[in-house]
Amino acid sequence: MISFNMPPYVGTEFTYIQEAIDELKICGDGTFTHQCSTWLEERFGTRRALLTTSGTSALEMAAALCDIKPGDEVILPSFTFSSTATAFVGQGARLKFIDVRPDTMNMDERLVEAAITPRTKVIVPVHYAGVACEMDPIMDLAQAHGIRVVEDAAQGVMSTYRGRALGTIGDFGCYSFHETKNYSMGEGGALLIRDEEHIEQAEIFREKGTNRSPCSPPICGHSSGRRIASTKTASPHGTAIATPSSPWRSRNASSFSTFPLTAYTTLICSISSAATSRTAPPS
Ligand SMILES: Cc1ncc(COP(=O)(O)O)c(C=O)c1O
Repeated sequence: MISFNMPPYVGTEFTYIQEAIDELKICGDGTFTHQCSTWLEERFGTRRALLTTSGTSALEMAAALCDIKPGDEVILPSFTFSSTATAFVGQGARLKFIDVRPDTMNMDERLVEAAITPRTKVIVPVHYAGVACEMDPIMDLAQAHGIRVVEDAAQGVMSTYRGRALGTIGDFGCYSFHETKNYSMGEGGALLIRDEEHIEQAEIFREKGTNRSPCSPPICGHSSGRRIASTKTASPHGTAIATPSSPWRSRNASSFSTFPLTAYTTLICSISSAATSRTAPPS
């Protein structure tokens, strides 16, 4: 029988777990998380990369950051994984599925314009199997109509479109590091944020409505009622598979040559409550 996927285990996982334990930091957002997100930002050229517990959590965060109101419409391909859709349904969106191209199995960019209505809030191109959607016409339409673009690049880590990393072209990009993906942490994901204006709110969502992120301003908040996806988790795999001596890494050397995903990684997550009121910092 041919396995669907082989989870990468390379033997250094326990070393990194021990390191995290020794640092008294096992909940995520420690040294390893920082190294990992900095690497993603520098390698892909995105303003901010936030590690999440899954690609689904990244999609849910992106949907919340698009500020969808009940009845707003989201255009997505009819062929994708369930959470591309459920992330937006969770925010009250109406889904408008459009057909995929037979050659790539990606959203047919020629069908997007006809699906746009005055209620359209977001277009979600899914880069199936790491093959890029035709992003230029999609971005042109989004810009012309004031629509946000959330790239589901769950399967597209290290792939590019006209020289740009998938996940960095739209307003938000969502990666998955699930065991079945090309870059795995067991479970994990990342939200890539293109524009400065979304970073503060994203940090608060990810830290469950608090300002625990060192990047957040002082806040005094309470839950806005946003759905909470999940809580922090951690995985040793991101670390181990990325280390220079890793056999898995040498098998995948061409694309992994500079990946310092060291860590008891971390991955945090998600949609939480948005802080709804703020106060000045205590003097
Ligand atoms: C296209 C697509 N989007 C989203 C996801 C969800 O990622 P995760 O399993 O990390 O939540 C997947 C995973 O299979 C996927 O293939």
